[in-house]
Amino acid sequence: MHLSVYLFLPFATASAISWSNCSSSLTPRLECASLSVPINWDDLSGPRTTIRLQRLPASNTSSRIGPLFYNPGGPGGVATEFINATAQGYHLFSDTLLQHFDLVGVDPRGVGTSDPIRCDPIIANERVTFFPSTEAEFATLVDYNRRLSESCSNLTGPLFEYMDTASVARDMEAVRQALGGEQISWFGQSYGSQMAVAHAELFPDTIRAMVLDGNVDHSQAESSNMLTESSTYERELERFANWCAVNATCALHGSDVLSVFDDLVRTADITPIPAPDCVVSETCRVNVTGEELRFNVQDFLTFKEPISIIGNIGWAGLAEALNQTLHGDASTLSSSLSTSEIDDTRFAGQAVLCQDWTHYTDTSFIDLADKQIMGKAISPHTQGASQTWTEVGCVGWTAPVRNPPHYASINASIPTLLVNAMYDPETSIVWANGLKAQIPGALLATRNGDGHTSYLLFGETSKATDEYLVSLSISQLMFSS
Ligand SMILES: *[C@@H]1O[C@H](CO)[C@@H](O)[C@H](O)[C@H]1NC(C)=O
Ligand SMILES: *[C@@H]1O[C@H](CO)[C@@H](O)[C@H](O)[C@H]1NC(C)=O
Ligand SMILES: *[C@@H]1O[C@H](CO)[C@@H](O)[C@H](O)[C@H]1NC(C)=O
Ligand SMILES: *[C@@H]1O[C@H](CO)[C@@H](O)[C@H](O)[C@H]1NC(C)=O
Ligand SMILES: *[C@@H]1O[C@H](CO)[C@@H](O)[C@H](O)[C@H]1NC(C)=O
Ligand SMILES: *[C@@H]1O[C@H](CO)[C@@H](O)[C@H](O)[C@H]1NC(C)=O
Ligand SMILES: *[C@@H]1O[C@H](CO)[C@@H](O)[C@H](O)[C@H]1NC(C)=O
Ligand SMILES: *[C@@H]1O[C@H](CO)[C@@H](O)[C@H](O)[C@H]1NC(C)=O
Repeated sequence: MHLSVYLFLPFATASAISWSNCSSSLTPRLECASLSVPINWDDLSGPRTTIRLQRLPASNTSSRIGPLFYNPGGPGGVATEFINATAQGYHLFSDTLLQHFDLVGVDPRGVGTSDPIRCDPIIANERVTFFPSTEAEFATLVDYNRRLSESCSNLTGPLFEYMDTASVARDMEAVRQALGGEQISWFGQSYGSQMAVAHAELFPDTIRAMVLDGNVDHSQAESSNMLTESSTYERELERFANWCAVNATCALHGSDVLSVFDDLVRTADITPIPAPDCVVSETCRVNVTGEELRFNVQDFLTFKEPISIIGNIGWAGLAEALNQTLHGDASTLSSSLSTSEIDDTRFAGQAVLCQDWTHYTDTSFIDLADKQIMGKAISPHTQGASQTWTEVGCVGWTAPVRNPPHYASINASIPTLLVNAMYDPETSIVWANGLKAQIPGALLATRNGDGHTSYLLFGETSKATDEYLVSLSISQLMFSS
């Protein structure tokens, strides 16, 4: 099956890549291209979609190794933004990588500069609970999911039904071939790890090496998946509270941060806390519920120290946001609203999640009530809220699951380094260990520290990533920065 698709690829994509001159004084070395691919890889003569990529050629041609495919995760993350920013001189990749590799960012189908997924923002912005406490609330959730997905299908067309990561992997292979057919190296962060593994499963001989930073294990039952992410988020919230207790730069220093968090959630569940900045901007909700606080704080734990290039305010910023919330202004922690039919994170991202993970077609109110009890038992403060929990948004979804969870089967020995922080609030070290067992010979490098992914910290772990991608070897596996 996979083999026949592989053989057909050259016919489907030959000479289809089209380069455009996108360089400017801001980005003199940037290159852009587009490629038309079949929406359904089992129907090569059917409707097509266009995916787009950006490339920054290796800065030293005599030390060039080959293409490095980069994906920042999501699902819904826009790879081209990272290539463009790098071409402008922003420090997102080390000079070592830029010298040795053509840095290639392909926006996955439906995402970023590729033909987008479109959904109705008015439906999307309706406020429904993902933690229903009655049959009626559950029915409202299912109806919301059904109408939202129907709107995406209506506005996007057939692409909406083929957003699964196995289809994405076939696109990546089409790009690899269109770029000349060299073996590629993969650098996938977060969900990008799942994308790289999906590519490796289908086309193992095409990959020279992989480094996967912040690992997703696409093999688990939904309850263990939820539990794993929820508990690693909870653990990181506890570490944030401990940091606050000992660090005077924390705006809540001297308070019991977990009690503050619990009180805010309880209060906001009764009366949502105002978010005055959002009244002005109209890009976020004008007030914040307890459930939204439980969901939204997770993102703010991603990096302990602020990283301005990606707009992250760090733990000190989260502490200030919680202090503001305590004083009646929850603007920073408010949920963003969709302002147009295109919203990569919410629309394309959800489309992928709902086709990659078990569909919840059989999920009843009772099932979801049971999962809420599980969330409270294991994660008493955050109660199960996490990105995995947003798969509850797939109950009633109209697109089918095309790429259900499965144990990865990679029929080649691809040099692979998995990188994971011990205290990652999203991609748990549990997932990294799970994935390691599925990739023959994979090594796992751990960073004894906090946050989601490690490369942007440019510490020892990033140096090891560079070293591994260049030399395929690594001298140690435990890091502290
Ligand atoms: C690169 O980013 C800049 C803004 O930072 C934008 O003006 C430009 O159009 C982008 N170029 C491409 C090719 O995406
Ligand atoms: C690409 O466009 C830039 C800016 O418009 C121009 O300076 C450059 O000469 C063009 N390069 C090619 C190869 O056409
Ligand atoms: C470019 O790569 C070659 C071969 O590895 C090396 O000898 C040379 O020093 C590199 N040039 C720069 C500017 O780093
Ligand atoms: C989608 O299109 C169908 C057929 O035109 C229509 O019946 C339905 O109301 C539309 N749904 C949404 C949510 O736009
Ligand atoms: C306090 O936290 C900040 C932000 O993480 C950090 O930069 C600083 O080094 C910490 N100070 C102490 C004394 O730990
Ligand atoms: C907490 O927020 C209040 C209200 O904005 C402000 O007056 C106070 O300075 C803040 N506390 C800290 C430690 O930042
Ligand atoms: C919260 O915002 C909604 C609009 O999203 C509004 O209907 C509701 O009255 C607000 N609640 C409070 C307590 O301000
Ligand atoms: C895996 O690779 C081996 C060696 O190339 C080959 O003999 C075997 O048939 C492959 N198995 C599958 C399922 O492709």
